[in-house]
Amino acid sequence: MKKFITATTLIALSAFFSIASQAAEGDVGVAATMDDRYCTTCHGAEGRGNIAIDAPRLAGMEAWYLKRQLENFRAGIRGTHGEDTQGIAMQPMAAKLTDESIADIVDWVGDWEYVPAEATVDGNVNQGRNAFQSCAACHGANAEGNEALGAPALAGQNDWYMITQLRNFRAGYRGSHREDTYGSQMLTMSKTLRDDQAIINVVSYINTLQK
Ligand code: HEC
Ligand code: HEC
Repeated sequence: MKKFITATTLIALSAFFSIASQAAEGDVGVAATMDDRYCTTCHGAEGRGNIAIDAPRLAGMEAWYLKRQLENFRAGIRGTHGEDTQGIAMQPMAAKLTDESIADIVDWVGDWEYVPAEATVDGNVNQGRNAFQSCAACHGANAEGNEALGAPALAGQNDWYMITQLRNFRAGYRGSHREDTYGSQMLTMSKTLRDDQAIINVVSYINTLQK
């Protein structure tokens, strides 16, 4: 599985770099920030997500959360753990962004239509609902997110992506950087999910909460 992810990620990366270099040759005079809008190469048209390369849905993401993740990737606070295969694919994509291009991207993504992702898992929703009671304190009863607590919306996000993140938090691949204040809170919380089945159950319940 890991080999497969690495191979598909590499294919995506090389496709991306050939597009980026074509753009660099042909784009003289275009505003610098426009060159940084290469995100849909991996995240899909209008940021709907792309399961083949593990790149999640961006459309509908809160501006404050999108901004923080881009800043964290850029600073290497996220996406630098040696076992974080997917984060490592994303980290270099943010490394060269300026504050100006991040602001531009946040505006651009904000214009995309919110379309809840399709469910791909079918766990035990009742057990997931019980487990979600502790998640609701930060993410909201309908998984709508809570800016004051820094906890993003989960409703409508790709379930396969949330499963990867919960596994990565539990394993310490995400959230263990010493400057990752918000990620470390989530790392602690992820330990309340006993095993992989508990992760699948809670995500199956979140699938029922689309805004
Ligand atoms: C080479 C493919 C690729 C490109 C190009 C790319 N991304 Fe990503 N991105 C990913 C992958 C894979 C992940 C999942 C990382 C993980 O699992 O932690 C990701 C994760 C993210 C996340 C985290 C989402 C969350 O819910 O926390 C954000 C935000 C993001 N990307 C924004 C962008 C933006 C904006 C651009 C364009 C500047 C971009 N990405 C370009 C592959 C890519
Ligand atoms: C103490 C508050 C808190 C609780 C309780 C909590 N979370 Fe989180 N969660 C966060 C924060 C903060 C983040 C954002 C981390 C970051 O910025 O990288 C997060 C991120 C996430 C993410 C990643 C979202 C993304 O787009 O990448 C998932 C999935 C998630 N939480 C699921 C859960 C689940 C399931 C539970 C219950 C078992 C839970 N959380 C409980 C605070 C919390």
